[in-house]
Amino acid sequence: MTSALAEGYTATMNRHATLSLKVNGDEREVAFAPHKTLLEVLREDLALTGTKHGCELGECGACAVLVDGRPVLSCLMLALECEGADVRTIEGMQEGAQLHPLQAAFADLGAAQCGYCTPAMLLTAKALLDDKPSATRDEIRASLSGVLCRCTGYLQIFDAVERAARILAARDREDHV
Ligand code: FES
Ligand code: FES
Repeated sequence: MTSALAEGYTATMNRHATLSLKVNGDEREVAFAPHKTLLEVLREDLALTGTKHGCELGECGACAVLVDGRPVLSCLMLALECEGADVRTIEGMQEGAQLHPLQAAFADLGAAQCGYCTPAMLLTAKALLDDKPSATRDEIRASLSGVLCRCTGYLQIFDAVERAARILAARDREDHV
């Protein structure tokens, strides 16, 4: 185990680790078996079940969350690796009482159907638009290519991301008037 993993948690008979995780802006103290992935800790120990459990092989993308603003596959990351990082899940995406523009656009345009891919799609799209507010359709397509959707055919998803980008750009212009 690297020193980065060895520091910052206490192990009891090598079976449980206690770690302070920053999730959606809140510091959460959590005890878990050290081999657990971030996906498992989010769902099983923090009851944040919005992050979806799919293949556990890094292939479907359903488990994507943001770590320090970047999408990661939480099924492939140990929770212990997240100490000190800013973890964002779908539960933290809403802006107060309002849906994030991406969430609203997904709902309005039928981009969320069964919903299984939706948390990962939304968070991955958010990371893209935070980094590149005027992303092109090709950039949106490339950014979301790691998240599989069995329902929509993707076009509604790309349309929704473009709509949200326009809303966010308009909001940004208003903020700077
Ligand atoms: S659960 Fe499929 S990539 Fe993580
Ligand atoms: S909405 Fe069902 S998998 Fe994407």
